[in-house]
Amino acid sequence: MTTRIIGTGHFVPEHIVTNDDLAQFLDTSDEWIKERTGIRRRHIDTGMGTTAMAAEASKRAIENAGISPKEIDLIIAATSTADEIFPNTAAMVQREIGNDRAACYDLNAACTGFIYGLNTAHAFISSHMAKTVLVVGSETMSRTVDWEDRSTCILFGDGAGAAVVAADDAGIEAVIMGSDGRKGEIIACDGRPAQSRWMSQAPRNPYMVMNGQEVFKFAVKKVPETIAQLLSQAGVGAEEVRHYILHQANERIIASVAKRLHVPMERFPINLDEYGNTSAASVPILLDELNRNGALKRGDRVVLAGFGAGLTWGATLMTW
Ligand code: COA
Repeated sequence: MTTRIIGTGHFVPEHIVTNDDLAQFLDTSDEWIKERTGIRRRHIDTGMGTTAMAAEASKRAIENAGISPKEIDLIIAATSTADEIFPNTAAMVQREIGNDRAACYDLNAACTGFIYGLNTAHAFISSHMAKTVLVVGSETMSRTVDWEDRSTCILFGDGAGAAVVAADDAGIEAVIMGSDGRKGEIIACDGRPAQSRWMSQAPRNPYMVMNGQEVFKFAVKKVPETIAQLLSQAGVGAEEVRHYILHQANERIIASVAKRLHVPMERFPINLDEYGNTSAASVPILLDELNRNGALKRGDRVVLAGFGAGLTWGATLMTW
């Protein structure tokens, strides 16, 4: 018995911001952004928020799975951009989908969040602590970036993606997760003011700071290493995997991973041209697009892989 994805869904805001739109107020160009990242446009939230996007993606995943929301006994929301500190995003999604008994919590592993969530759901199902789990990745990255910092803001977009998973005979075959907190400052967001009646610290930078080149170097080394380790755990060859669904951060990172694994680029689907980097939402958005357009066939071997702030990384091998 293992864990199978039985339904997927996604939601992205309607409002589109193109590279040319950014060039209106930033010293950048469509050509630079396309060439260095592959991104052409991104969908940006104009007020809906992380929870509402997560709820919409979740409803679509539940409908796609053909189950009642009441069957869900665990909801994991992967996000680093929750609307509130508490209640947690997962509990607010629970309210929206019409479920009043599931355990609910948020998980913050930045852009690796959905993979961490899915692997955690697998652990719960394997240990019989849950039967049906909703994992949703939702992010309003547009609120964490400084729109005057061209080295970060051009990369990100908003959206949500979700998957319903349940116990089944076939599905997840191997999982892997890791972190290296020593490199936490390479991509970080202080966010909240550190003030209280008894504490007063200098105001923090509310926006993300990132050393892009260090993140790039980390990703092109760590992601292929992680996937190789994952495949070797399961005794599966890289060529036996039909789809490599990677975190959508930069097309050059994905091309480098494909090269290091000696796998043709056509097995690495890409949608970052349309959405940019939606952090924990990127893998489930792409997964849902492939599921709905019929690209995923029963029996296909699929690898999901992510990396991000922490630094964190993770991957999942499954039979669809
Ligand atoms: N438009 C135009 N020029 C820009 C620019 C922009 N949006 N952003 C940076 N530049 C400039 C820099 O100022 C620099 O100018 P200089 O040579 O005069 O100093 C030049 O372009 C090269 O900058 P560099 O940082 O070396 O570019 P790069 O090829 O490393 O690309 C990133 C920058 C951010 C696209 C790339 O490092 C990257 O994608 N890193 C990974 C980031 C990531 O994925 N983060 C999320 C992980 S989950």
